[in-house]
Amino acid sequence: MAQERKMDTPTELETFITGLPKAELHLHIEGSLEPELMFTLARRNRLDLPFKTVEELRAAYNFSNLQDFLDIYYAGAQVLRTEEDFHDLTLAYFARAAADGVLHAEIFFDPQTHTDRSIPFAVAADGILAGMAAARTRYGVTSELIMCFLRHLDEEAAFTTFRAAEPWLDRIIGVGLDSSEAGHPPQKFARVFAAAGAAGLKRVAHAGEEGPAAYVWEALDVLHIDRLDHGNRALEDPALVARLAASQMTLTVCPLSNFRLCVVPDMNLHPIDTMLAQGLRATINSDDPAYFGGYIAENFKAAAFGRNLNKAQLIQLARNSFLGAFLDAATQADYLRRLDGFATFP
Ligand code: ADE
Ligand code: ZN
Repeated sequence: MAQERKMDTPTELETFITGLPKAELHLHIEGSLEPELMFTLARRNRLDLPFKTVEELRAAYNFSNLQDFLDIYYAGAQVLRTEEDFHDLTLAYFARAAADGVLHAEIFFDPQTHTDRSIPFAVAADGILAGMAAARTRYGVTSELIMCFLRHLDEEAAFTTFRAAEPWLDRIIGVGLDSSEAGHPPQKFARVFAAAGAAGLKRVAHAGEEGPAAYVWEALDVLHIDRLDHGNRALEDPALVARLAASQMTLTVCPLSNFRLCVVPDMNLHPIDTMLAQGLRATINSDDPAYFGGYIAENFKAAAFGRNLNKAQLIQLARNSFLGAFLDAATQADYLRRLDGFATFP
C-alpha cells in the first residue's frame, strides 16, 4: 500500500524555515536598529529622543509608503555616533541572522546618512567592518559590505562619497542605490556606477519597489547591475520578466517590507511564488527588520503562510540566495552542499 505523505504542521514548517541554510542579500544595517538599542545609544550619546518609551516608538512604525518609512529611518539613525555604536548595531544584527540560519550576509550601509551629519565615513565603515569580523568569529557567519548612494541626493554627492571610500575599497564588495525611488531614476547615477564598475566593484540597485518597470530596464542597461533589489514592478512588463529570467538576474525580494510599505496590499497577494513560477531567481530578505516586524526567518514564514509555499519552493529560495551571493566558487559550493544536506535530512 502506498504510504500517504504526512503534511507538515505549521510548527514543523517554522522549524524547517529557521534551520534552512540561507544567505541574506538585502539588509540595511541601519534598518536593524531595534528600538531598545536606539534608546541605549541615545543614552550613551546623551541625546534626546522624541519618544518616551520603546512602545511609543514602535507605535510610530505605521507606514503608508516608502517615504513615510524613510523619514523615521533617517531620524532613528541619528543615535549612531561612534565606531562602537556601529559595531554594536552590526553584531546585534548577526546574532539574529545566525539564529535564523543565515550562513552568509551581504549588508548595506548608507554612508551619506552619517557623513551629512558630520560622522566621518571611517567611523561608520570601521565600526561595521569590526562588527562583521566579530560575527565571523562568534557565529561563523561570513559577510560582505555594500555601500549605497542615496538617490534623493545628486550624483556629485555620490561621487564625493565614492572618493571618501577609496581607502576602504578592498573591504567593500559593491555599490548600491537606495532611498526615495519615485522621481529619482537610475540614469541619474550612470557615471558614478560606471566609475564603481571600473574600480572592480559589484553593482546593485533598488528598482521597481515603488518606481516603474522602466527603472528596472535602466538599472540593467545604464547601471549594469549584478543584482536587482526588490524588482516587484518588473512583473508588469513581460519582456522585462523574460530578460531577467533568461539572464538569471537575482532579485532580492523583501516580503514584510513590501507589506509594511504598501507595495503589496496583503501577504496573501505577495508575488513571490509567481516570480519563481516565471523562472526568476528570487530570494527572500528582511530589508529593515527592526521597522518591518521581523528578520529573515519571519520573512520566509510570512511568505510561506501567505502564499502556501511548499518545502521545494522554500529550498529553491534558499538555493537562489547562495547562487546570487557574491561568493567565491569554493565557498558557494560549500554552502550549497550544506543546503543539500539539510534539504535531504532536515
Ligand atoms: N533604505 C532602507 N530601506 C529602503 C528601502 N526599502 N527602499 C529604499 N531605500 C531604503
Ligand atoms: Zn532596501
